[in-house]
Amino acid sequence: MRIVLFAGKGGVGKTSIAGATGVACAQKGLKTLVMSLDAAHSLVDSFDLDKSLMDRNRGKPIRVAKNLSIQEVDVQEEIKKNWGEVHKYISSLLNISGIDEVLAEELAILPGMEEVSSLLYINRYVAQKRYDLILLDCAPTGESIRFISIPTSLDWYMKKLFDVERRIVKIARPVAKRLYSVPLPEKEYFATIQRLFDRLEGIDRILSDPNITTVRLITNPEKIVLKETQRAYMYFSLYRMCVDAIVINRIFPEEVGDGYFARWKETQDKYIKKTEELFNPIPILKVPMLIDQVVGMGELSKLAKEIYGKLSPEQILYAGTPYTFRKVHQDYFLDIKIPFLTKQEVELSKRNEELTVRIGGFKRQVLLPRNIAARDPTGAKIEQDKIVIKFGGDHGD
Ligand SMILES: Nc1ncnc2c1ncn2[C@@H]1O[C@H](COP(=O)(O)OP(=O)(O)OP(=O)(O)O)[C@@H](O)[C@H]1O
Ligand SMILES: [Mg+2]
Repeated sequence: MRIVLFAGKGGVGKTSIAGATGVACAQKGLKTLVMSLDAAHSLVDSFDLDKSLMDRNRGKPIRVAKNLSIQEVDVQEEIKKNWGEVHKYISSLLNISGIDEVLAEELAILPGMEEVSSLLYINRYVAQKRYDLILLDCAPTGESIRFISIPTSLDWYMKKLFDVERRIVKIARPVAKRLYSVPLPEKEYFATIQRLFDRLEGIDRILSDPNITTVRLITNPEKIVLKETQRAYMYFSLYRMCVDAIVINRIFPEEVGDGYFARWKETQDKYIKKTEELFNPIPILKVPMLIDQVVGMGELSKLAKEIYGKLSPEQILYAGTPYTFRKVHQDYFLDIKIPFLTKQEVELSKRNEELTVRIGGFKRQVLLPRNIAARDPTGAKIEQDKIVIKFGGDHGD
């Protein structure tokens, strides 16, 4: 059983590459599901299918070839099924505050509900061992980070807040009824949340198990896209997820060398090198810009050959997490794994959120998460095969 997330900035080729990987794996005889996590679904278009097919199917998986299904979750349908009482309560609150009923129902689809619905499916498929491989076509970076943060935040909410809220509401209800016109949530509201949470049991472990789940970051050889790829990499590391490949998509072939695209070619070469430097030792898969857009199974299959060559797309292409962020008491640490380290002087410099680590001829730039970026590195030491960097107190302490 494997799960692979395809993540990256908007428009870099996530859907096409997730779809291509699905086609290739199904052809190898693996039972494969490609599932869209992007509310603006485009799998059906990528596979060149009739949109009404998905509408009629109400967000269930559709079989598109032998061993291959695709799924675009239908949020309205899921809300009816999973979120009933929660959605009803929130719409009633919004409606009381004067918002039109139809709009209230729409607004009451809270951020996170859609993601939880997808997580419920994934958890169920894993438990049923329904597929050998689940490929997740993620929304652009920001939202996909929210997706992977949900199991952790939900766990926190359920452990720390949920019971307190439930108890407070129970005690306060008789008084509140007389004092306020705003209703408090009923028992069923809490029961719905509890039930959903129970059904998510274990998903956290599945997503953070590097033997099951890996992330492939899709990028293009351009400055701004690369920056976002670094940021995405940092966030996935923060959630301890293993990135097993970086896919540089849309590389211009040599033929466009002179003429109008000459400058583009130079820029691309520069950022391909930069990507390799930044992400070494994670495998970098280079994919050319094909002669036309990638639509339909035939084209997706061709794209898969360009992406993977002789590699097996379903395998874990790289094991290990070169970066680990940790907190011990009040201090934050960043561990960077580097093979064949010898004891040498480590030089650190930090500009805004970017930390540069130099050691001998080796240079590594790391984007720091916000809470660590507010601090300065206060020391570094080499331990076996890693550099451990310590970040002291906040600025202004
Ligand atoms: N290597 C390639 N060669 C030619 N066209 C490509 C290539 N990769 C992607 N495309 C085309 O680029 C467009 C965007 O690709 P795709 O929809 O896969 O990106 P995305 O990252 O999923 O976008 P979004 O963030 O909007 O979901 C599509 O028209 C697709 O056919
Ligand atoms: Mg897409």
